[in-house]
Amino acid sequence: MGNVTVIGSQWGDEGKGKIVDWLSNQADIVARFQGGNNAGHTIVVNKKKIALSLLPSGIIRQKKSVIGNGVVVNPQALLDEIRSLKKVGINVSNKDLVISENASIIFSFHKNIDSIREKLKGPNKIGTTGRGIGPAYEDKVGRRAIRLGDLRNKENLKNKIKNILAYHNTILLGLGAKTIDEKEIMIEIESYRLEILKFVQRINPIFFKAKLSGQKILFEGAQGILLDVDHGTYPFVTSSNTLPSSASTGTGISIKQLGFILGIVKAYTTRVGSGPFPSELKNNIGTKLGKIGNEFGTVTGRQRRCGWFDSIIVKHSLEISGADGIALTKMDVLDNFEEIKICVGYKLKGKKIDYFPNLDFEQNNLQPIYEKHKGWMENTQGAKSWSELPALAIKYVRRVEELIGVPVVMLSTSPKREDTIVVKNPFIS
Ligand code: IMP
Repeated sequence: MGNVTVIGSQWGDEGKGKIVDWLSNQADIVARFQGGNNAGHTIVVNKKKIALSLLPSGIIRQKKSVIGNGVVVNPQALLDEIRSLKKVGINVSNKDLVISENASIIFSFHKNIDSIREKLKGPNKIGTTGRGIGPAYEDKVGRRAIRLGDLRNKENLKNKIKNILAYHNTILLGLGAKTIDEKEIMIEIESYRLEILKFVQRINPIFFKAKLSGQKILFEGAQGILLDVDHGTYPFVTSSNTLPSSASTGTGISIKQLGFILGIVKAYTTRVGSGPFPSELKNNIGTKLGKIGNEFGTVTGRQRRCGWFDSIIVKHSLEISGADGIALTKMDVLDNFEEIKICVGYKLKGKKIDYFPNLDFEQNNLQPIYEKHKGWMENTQGAKSWSELPALAIKYVRRVEELIGVPVVMLSTSPKREDTIVVKNPFIS
């Protein structure tokens, strides 16, 4: 029995929520390690839908949930999530939830800066979630961020606020935008300071103890590998590393404790926001995929762009992640397509290539090369074993495995937890 690290292997929204929920039932600790409240998935608790963005999903199964130092935390948004859980009968105490004292804070001004930047970029905008994620990470690597543990020492905090505002106000002034008032930030902080501090502590001892006692940890990645700030479709990416190794930097656990690396892969492709997407279908087939797959963002409600499965980007993601297996999700969305295509390569300036290039001027000019598959035209929704799947659907799965070079260990056939075919439990590897 080991740990499991879950990562999205496309542009996010691969259906990680359901798989993480399935796995969290078997974990002792569930930890988030990167991203912030730009992530999101909807869960149903006591027949009520709740959108979680920041809380590790283990929280609804009363598992110890940890928000690591690699996460950028908006305390107001987090407390709102905790309140919304309370409304459906789930009380989150500081025994259930622990937030790393060295996680950086997202302030309301980070959100404003995010939106000012996007407006300035006009048609070249990234299409961010507008949650202030990028500006908060910039402050972190710029060594001026305020961390959650800083809220304990008011004198020190005041100096840090002066320092961070000196930087931002200079830029805002230059842009002719409204500057940030120190007093307003202090009021903002006071509105949550004591409440959030209840959850803030050193997280290293939790993981150290877990290792000694053999507790199982589920590391819950957010976004997807193609949104990784180094390895994704830069600059149309998020501001964190989404690779599994971020679970180490983002929590302080040893790289040797990542355990089974599970890539989550959707049976077709989607993305929200701007940026290259070689197999995108800007036609009625793309619209049909979006409709059947209910492809609307949990966080922003934006319509997702849809396209055929791109084996090249997934292979790229899985290779750089060192994935041990994948969970293939949303197979049932393809049930009603007479013909299904898979992208197996690209043409770049008339030349065939079988890899995903790193640079935007190349990524923007890729023409997908497709292979065609006959659709199974039968219902696979709710299938719980391979024997319930049509032969053509199994053929599709086998071809996906062959192209990406990683086995399917879980197959999800509906949003429901129980509709999952488990070939191999990643916790028992
Ligand atoms: P940011 O993370 O809000 O800065 O947004 C940067 C890019 O990442 C945008 O294209 C977003 O749409 C995308 N993004 C961020 N979080 C998610 C996610 O959880 N799912 C899918 N796309 C995301």
